[in-house]
Amino acid sequence: MINQVTIDNIDGVKELQSIFNVVFKQKDELMRTLTANPYVKMYTYSVNEKVVGFIEYSRIYDRYELDNIYVLEEYRNKGIASCLISFMIEMAQKDNIKNITLEVRIDNNIALTLYEKYGFVKKAIRHNYYGDCDGILMEKEMM
Ligand SMILES: CC(C)(COP(=O)(O)OP(=O)(O)OC[C@H]1O[C@@H](n2cnc3c(N)ncnc32)[C@H](O)[C@@H]1OP(=O)(O)O)[C@@H](O)C(=O)NCCC(=O)NCCS
Repeated sequence: MINQVTIDNIDGVKELQSIFNVVFKQKDELMRTLTANPYVKMYTYSVNEKVVGFIEYSRIYDRYELDNIYVLEEYRNKGIASCLISFMIEMAQKDNIKNITLEVRIDNNIALTLYEKYGFVKKAIRHNYYGDCDGILMEKEMM
């Protein structure tokens, strides 16, 4: 099940902390992001009420930027990230979004395969974008 994370329901989302610990966000930081930027959207994916997946994207005028997607290790390869990406693409269609962009490490083959499966194409290499590794800018045209 996919649920939106908002300031109002953040305390009610069970086990949110388990995933945010790995994804980097402590609750304070998360609250700040949600308060300061209404264009940031965060959704969780739950199995039996346990939060096991997370997606974060931002709307910037007529495009989306995928900021983060994460699935707990023991729940990987079960189609959860695919559900979250499909969901984001549906939202983009409703919002008349022209394109979705993202950055991914050049050595993250799993994520690269996932994004390609959903129609993202490599647009540019960002040298040393991650310090120790190049980044790839990918884009999905929506129109
Ligand atoms: C990338 C990530 C989100 C994928 O989550 P997931 O729920 O396991 O992905 P799915 O089960 O929906 O798989 C979707 C596609 O990803 C690719 N994929 C998934 N696991 C893979 C593996 N072990 N090897 C190669 N490709 C793989 C496949 O293309 C797969 O599609 P298919 O099942 O039709 O072949 C997950 O591995 C993760 O959280 N990684 C750490 C965080 C991360 O790297 N995020 C991306 C940052 S840019």
